[in-house]
Amino acid sequence: MRKGGFKAYLKNFLSEEEISSLKTSLEIVGDIAILKLPSDLGLKEKIVGEAILKLNKNVKTVLKQTTSVNGEFRIRNFELVVGENKTETVHKEHGCIFKVDVSKVYFSPRLQFERLRIAKLVNLGEVVVNMFAGVGSFSIIIAKKSKPSKVYSVDINPLAIQYLKENIVLNKVENIVVPILGDAKEVVNQKLLNLADRVLMPLPAKAYEYLPEAIKCLKNFSGWIHYYDFTHSSKSENPQEKVRKKIEERVKNLNFPINFSIKNSRIVRSVGPNWYQVVLDIYIG
Ligand SMILES: C[S@@+](CC[C@H](N)C(=O)[O-])C[C@H]1O[C@@H](n2cnc3c(N)ncnc32)[C@H](O)[C@@H]1O
Repeated sequence: MRKGGFKAYLKNFLSEEEISSLKTSLEIVGDIAILKLPSDLGLKEKIVGEAILKLNKNVKTVLKQTTSVNGEFRIRNFELVVGENKTETVHKEHGCIFKVDVSKVYFSPRLQFERLRIAKLVNLGEVVVNMFAGVGSFSIIIAKKSKPSKVYSVDINPLAIQYLKENIVLNKVENIVVPILGDAKEVVNQKLLNLADRVLMPLPAKAYEYLPEAIKCLKNFSGWIHYYDFTHSSKSENPQEKVRKKIEERVKNLNFPINFSIKNSRIVRSVGPNWYQVVLDIYIG
């Protein structure tokens, strides 16, 4: 939906001040629209919700996000604004299908560019470990686009693994994507040592702590790690440089017998004022 169209429509119902207080960074997951709304909008919330339904014919439900992403499972709470009262939907991305319940598992359409970027880096026949796989958004796109031999996909949320299993079948990647329920540290140490060409760590809150396990996954301590982190960065600082320095120090202190080089870094997205999600593509060999 065009932001201009949305705001122009609302001008008939809301004051300029109310419109400018709206965060129109609308997220659409399948046929569910998710909005952050100011707390003082009252009954006008429904008008905003109706505008979304009217301007976007594919949307059946408008939800208001009432908490930030939180807890071990990285989930958020919602309230219905208008439309069908549901939180489960089917989302399509890069030719893949993802069934998700947005209130029970993590899913963000904002990572779609990053998912395809990583998939394009994967070579035919690679063994990939995704330490924080969720419903399989990275794993399944990699499996469909790049034909790796296996994508071991770990998550600690039983419902994420349940949806991952369904999504594996929906996308016909049963021979490639292997779902594993558990804590990534334990799973790696029990089942996934010394076998991967590439490891994904798409959980900024834990990637720093779990970095030794990512290194131990790699076949003969050699291969790629995609490391995600959040960093605060003032205007005079460079967020990518901050994360690079932090990780160089971390790896040095681990004393693994490895050569380590950060081949690429990028800001995945801005997550708040002066807060960034950064990815490092690390080569170990
Ligand atoms: C930010 S989400 C990313 C999910 C998925 N990669 C995506 O982009 O949609 C992080 C995931 O890590 C899982 N998680 C949290 N702690 C974990 C742990 N210790 N071991 C394995 N998975 C964990 C959460 O349940 C969540 O699904």
